[in-house]
Amino acid sequence: MPEKVLIFDTTLRDGEQSPGCSMNLDEKLEMARQLDRLGVDILEAGFPIASEGDHDAVRAIAEEIRRPIIAALARANHLDIDRAWSALRQAARPRVHTFLATSDIHLKYKLRKSRDEVLKMIADAVGYARSLCPDVEFSPEDAGRTDRNYLIECCHAAVEAGATTLNLPDTVGYCLETEYEQMFAEVKARVPGMDRVVLSTHTHDDLGLAAANTLAGIRGGARQVECTINGIGERAGNAALEEVVMTIHLRGSALGVTTGIRTEELYPSSQLLTRLTGVAVQRNKAIVGRNAFAHEAGIHQDGVLKNALTYEIISPQTVGMTSNQIVLGKHSGRHALAKRYEELGYHLTKPELERAYTLFTDLADRKKNVYDEDLIALVEEGFDHIPEMFTLRLFQSVASSDGRSTATVELEKDGHVFHDSATAEGPCDAAFRAIDRITQTPGNIADFSVHTIGPGVDGVAEVSIRVRFQGMEFTGKFTSHNVIEAAARAYLQAANKAVYELRRAADQTAKAPHPTHENALVDRYFPGGY
Ligand code: KIV
Ligand code: ZN
Repeated sequence: MPEKVLIFDTTLRDGEQSPGCSMNLDEKLEMARQLDRLGVDILEAGFPIASEGDHDAVRAIAEEIRRPIIAALARANHLDIDRAWSALRQAARPRVHTFLATSDIHLKYKLRKSRDEVLKMIADAVGYARSLCPDVEFSPEDAGRTDRNYLIECCHAAVEAGATTLNLPDTVGYCLETEYEQMFAEVKARVPGMDRVVLSTHTHDDLGLAAANTLAGIRGGARQVECTINGIGERAGNAALEEVVMTIHLRGSALGVTTGIRTEELYPSSQLLTRLTGVAVQRNKAIVGRNAFAHEAGIHQDGVLKNALTYEIISPQTVGMTSNQIVLGKHSGRHALAKRYEELGYHLTKPELERAYTLFTDLADRKKNVYDEDLIALVEEGFDHIPEMFTLRLFQSVASSDGRSTATVELEKDGHVFHDSATAEGPCDAAFRAIDRITQTPGNIADFSVHTIGPGVDGVAEVSIRVRFQGMEFTGKFTSHNVIEAAARAYLQAANKAVYELRRAADQTAKAPHPTHENALVDRYFPGGY
């Protein structure tokens, strides 16, 4: 009988820490709901001491998501642990995850503490966390580069103080598989009381070994693995959940383990994360990349047509990716549309279906063939939960090679119509500047990418954008036949999110005795209050 490996998802903590992957509270909640559908066992929701926003997001997730264990990260001190506990206390199954570096290089240069001092801090922090919460995980940060005898002492101190899970991170992605496996086997054999404690992996992909090392940890005795959707995370990222899960799914009998993950939710989870962060997955990414199931070479295509098993070890349907057939045209009805969405994993409510149908008929009028990707883009973009502050009524642009492209936009807000024009070097930039002039919120592009969706000349352009407004980053994504229009609409989405967030921030500081910069901005957008 295969043993179950617990899947600990840290997309919203280690993943969210990585550049360009930050999410606001609503986005984190949406992602947490999807992770729940996916069936993760433990969901690390954030690092509450890091910011007010992180604390509130962990609390909101802990209040709403009741099936998985909800974990929150804390350094090994009472203040951090109190903050984590304050965010977690309403959770059905809370877990405090506390960590402290144990490698000599971290002790000497980062912590400036002796080994004895660190040992005492571990015992104190884990004991304190246990006095608040029955489920406590301890991570000796940089375990992979920690002197083995000292690591055993640290683990022993944590277990004696009440840790219920011991996580051994390869924080800098340095370990070879054999070394990582050996570390687990040794901790399991040498630390007293390990029969009551779950061992966990946490790997980083600096050498491209994160998934392989996770499997090595399992061979060494780990029964929890920490990973993230699309492998996002610090630097080169963490072990990708979809890679680890699908390896276990496919080769579980060789590994002697299984997971409780619903594999058909893997692709929807990957897609949702991409939409929320605006960070696209590389095309050749294992399991969830667009080319993961594409067969280009003639010999391969021939083989797959005769029998998919010739070149496909996993069917796209297993990970929730439906085949890219031409599905619908402009004469298709609501019923066919609803059925197709269900096959794609979207269970639309009646009003959502109405909205999708309107968008679909509009697209089908402009585009002969409507593909699965188009349908996904319609709901992903059309159902943004952030209310539109400004809507685009009209857009015109003139591109020029002499560095003077122009754009005119007409936006509507609360029944008022504003229009403005701008000139810039390129037509997209001109459109962004014209939007800035109306919203009076200048943004700086942090990332901009375009790729085509759907095959052939009938394909449409999908623009993903990350924009910095007032020091905060927001994302937008839009699909259109017209790449400049897609860019303008994606930019406007990001601008709308910025305006919305500023309004929320002002909500929280409304009682502030002195006017703040944010309040001043809110006065500009909502002069009559809101
Ligand atoms: O990589 C790491 O060591 C971590 C710990 C906080 C678990 O993310
Ligand atoms: Zn990490």
